[in-house]
Amino acid sequence: MTIFELSKSGRTACPLQKRDVEEYKLDPKFLREADAMLPEVDELTLVRHYTALSKKAFGVDDGFYPLGSCTMKYNPKINEAAAALSGFTNIHPLQDQTQGALRLMWELSRDLCAITGMDMFTLQPAAGAHGEFTALLMIKAYHNSRNDHKRNKVIAPDSAHGTNPASAAMAGFEIINIPSSSDGLADLEALEKAVGEDTAAFMLTNPNTLGIFDKNIKKIADIVHKAGGLLYYDGANLNPIMGIIRPGDMGFDVVHLNLHKTFSAPHGGGGPGSGPVGCKKLLAEFLPWPTVEEDNGVYRFSKPHKSIGSVKAFYGNFLVLVKAFAYIKTLGKDGIRNSAKMSALNANYLMARLKEYFPCHSQDICMHEFVISCEELKQRTGVSALDLAKAMQDKGMHPPTMYFPLIVKEALMFEPTETESKETLDNAADIIIELCHEALNNPQSFHEKPLTTPIGRPDEVKAARFPILKG
Ligand SMILES: Cc1ncc(COP(=O)(O)O)c(C=O)c1O
Repeated sequence: MTIFELSKSGRTACPLQKRDVEEYKLDPKFLREADAMLPEVDELTLVRHYTALSKKAFGVDDGFYPLGSCTMKYNPKINEAAAALSGFTNIHPLQDQTQGALRLMWELSRDLCAITGMDMFTLQPAAGAHGEFTALLMIKAYHNSRNDHKRNKVIAPDSAHGTNPASAAMAGFEIINIPSSSDGLADLEALEKAVGEDTAAFMLTNPNTLGIFDKNIKKIADIVHKAGGLLYYDGANLNPIMGIIRPGDMGFDVVHLNLHKTFSAPHGGGGPGSGPVGCKKLLAEFLPWPTVEEDNGVYRFSKPHKSIGSVKAFYGNFLVLVKAFAYIKTLGKDGIRNSAKMSALNANYLMARLKEYFPCHSQDICMHEFVISCEELKQRTGVSALDLAKAMQDKGMHPPTMYFPLIVKEALMFEPTETESKETLDNAADIIIELCHEALNNPQSFHEKPLTTPIGRPDEVKAARFPILKG
């Protein structure tokens, strides 16, 4: 039921005070012709309605949430407390000389440079995909500035996240997909063949979406650079390497990070995200403006010489930046490295427990995530990756990512993240193994699951083809 269906004319949760000033007569051309369609409910109905709705949702604070590729990590509450400080919430973006806010952005940029091995950052982009698009516009501006106008192709491996080719297409590039080798890495021969004088960039996430660290990265960087292209780091998978190895040292020229993933600002549900872009010096003059600079302890905005322009209003989602800043400062250098190690340890532990039951599409050791294939189980029992994922909901855990990456059939991709305890991981492994046995013994039971959630099995095709986007 929606709040509009609970509406009863004349009810209100907040009685308005009697007017104590003279009524101002607006020009009728500014007046509505009919009353605004607003729900009219009392306070208790309002509270109950939204409390009931919140109980139907499942978030990272409710239980295990092992989405792969998306890094749904726990968001420490101290980040929220920092972002709620009135000094941050009460400033207007046009108060652009506020030294504390500028200093935070400057220090965050420096910290991100230290973590990634880049020289400069923009904090403007609002999400990972937005960061990709921004960086690709910078890459285009860079080649154009050298009168190298024929570089109109962006290469990406077939394991890439869908946003990579989508962003490249939006930035006006043609996409070349190269296959992965049998060990899940970028195929060097295919890359050699694909690069040429029309290569603008190669986009790679390392570790990749199979949770495998591409150990050929130096060779890859050589191949791309020799051809005159740039190397783009999709930082959505930075989690298991932060504080240990830096994209800048691997040979990447430009990166985007997902503050709402790696740096623990909440994400999901379409909330504000943040996808800062960092680059080496050769691209710095193309960064969006404003960037923040420091001069003898004074902070101010500046405009890079050949800036591609602004990509978001003002300075990006500022309060998300505050959360990421709080996260970095509370963990410190050692804490960041430790988180990375724990994320890999947790993923490897869960993978080791499941390996016996499902073919695993990672090598012996994975990084922060791993992919299992339910293809064999489906052939034997008819129970698919989707059925298994739905059944997990009845057991109180959020399903992992399904059917991604596309190169693995009946894929389930798990990323437990660093903060989960051994008990939680064991419980998740027990659930999945139990479901695997149930699939072998009673496969029919799966087709109706989940049975305990407010919505069971929506018609996904219909929802995708005919979405109802408003009430
Ligand atoms: C590998 C990878 N790249 C890029 C993105 C895009 O990030 P965002 O969802 O913030 O746009 C994602 C998101 O899941 C991802 O997993």
